[in-house]
Amino acid sequence: MTEASFDCILDGTKVRRFYVKNLLDDLAASVAVAEGEAPLPYPRGTLLQLVPFEAMVKREVGFSEETNDWEFFALLPTDEGTEIATRGNDAVNFLGDTCFECHSAAANNDFVCETDNGCVSLPTPAEVIITLQEADPRCE
Ligand code: HEC
Repeated sequence: MTEASFDCILDGTKVRRFYVKNLLDDLAASVAVAEGEAPLPYPRGTLLQLVPFEAMVKREVGFSEETNDWEFFALLPTDEGTEIATRGNDAVNFLGDTCFECHSAAANNDFVCETDNGCVSLPTPAEVIITLQEADPRCE
């Protein structure tokens, strides 16, 4: 996983509110889980994003027992590319909260929060999330 692993959020497949990619060319498998057509957990290589500056990536089996092998990333996207601000279980969002802290509430849903899996809600309304997605500076 390097900065080059990240790109325009809108290049992913949108499922409900978030975007799905797969870094190992197995997008169909990742989308099938997101759509509920295949069971959890998400397959290796899955990259999920709600907003351009955050991502969670499913790493190899055994990467992290605590997170069911997800790695969290806080990103700094610009029109030149992506910098990784923080990563792993210490990665923090712009409010200084760790990704892990919130997302672990959804451990029984493979750490995917959406709106009904026990996570503390985001303060960001749905329409603001769409505006942030469409404003990703890497999408040109
Ligand atoms: C305050 C709790 C909280 C924190 C902190 C947080 N998230 Fe989330 N996250 C949520 C909630 C709630 C959703 C679902 C929001 C929605 O669908 O409207 C979400 C959605 C997501 C999604 C889309 C898939 C899903 O789980 O619904 C990703 C990817 C994601 N967050 C990654 C991160 C990363 C990476 C960080 C840290 C940089 C982070 N989050 C920090 C609560 C949090």
